[in-house]
Amino acid sequence: MIHYKTPAEIELMRDSAMLVSKTLTEVAKVLKPGITTRQLDKVIGDFIRDNDAIPSFLNYRGYPFNSCTSVNDVVVHGFPNDLALRDGDIISVDIGVIKKGWHGDHAYTFAIGDPGPEVMQLIQVTKESLYKGIEKAIAGNRVGDISYAIEEYTARKYGYGVVRELVGHGLGKHLHEEPQVPNYGRRGTGAKLREGLVLAIEPMINLGKREVYTESDGWTVRTTDHQPSVHFEHDVCVKKGRADILSDYSIIEAAEKANPHLFTGQAAAVNS
Ligand code: MF3
Ligand code: CO
Repeated sequence: MIHYKTPAEIELMRDSAMLVSKTLTEVAKVLKPGITTRQLDKVIGDFIRDNDAIPSFLNYRGYPFNSCTSVNDVVVHGFPNDLALRDGDIISVDIGVIKKGWHGDHAYTFAIGDPGPEVMQLIQVTKESLYKGIEKAIAGNRVGDISYAIEEYTARKYGYGVVRELVGHGLGKHLHEEPQVPNYGRRGTGAKLREGLVLAIEPMINLGKREVYTESDGWTVRTTDHQPSVHFEHDVCVKKGRADILSDYSIIEAAEKANPHLFTGQAAAVNS
């Protein structure tokens, strides 16, 4: 069953989404070589609780941390650990909150130092593909229009591997609501999009092949070829004419640019 949100509920969801964006901004401020993902996870949990919310991933189906910190060939659901981040690493930080009963859930991939032009392009193109998908999140379209736009831009244009085992989703009083939003598919297929539907759209794109596997911890998803993978996620409300993005990358990007340890690199020019 698909849940549509009222305008008042959408404003509550915007608050939840914005808290995730603000938490990712705190992460962007402290990221540097030497910091561990366990330290990041503590910053994340403390900030969320200081803002009268709870980290929604913690204990979700037994997930044991506040956040997912996925480094290099880890696609998603990486456990925070005591390994120090190094120059040239990329890290997707995925955060969920529940505030006043409503979920926010999104992710951003950062480059620590310079991972090189190939990986910077993967980061840039994956972020752009998210916006290509969001452009299709308008009333009257179908889920497959979002899926196709993301696959078209990343796989067909750049030859990247589009992960199929994990998908975007509806978001609301629950972390995962209908419909599923794959990052591959056919135009004009799937559920019809109506105003008030809130989606977490989240391309997971591999530099190499699309195949992934889950480690024996039951969570960590890695690329089979161990090439890097990038993940971006926004919370988006379907509207007529133009989607309403409830989360906000601009504050994260400002902190990222101001942090000398993070590479925001001018990758080879790509038009969006
Ligand atoms: N953004 C991810 C998702 O939508 C995060 C879930 S991690 C979990 O599925 F720990 F909560 F499962
Ligand atoms: Co999600």
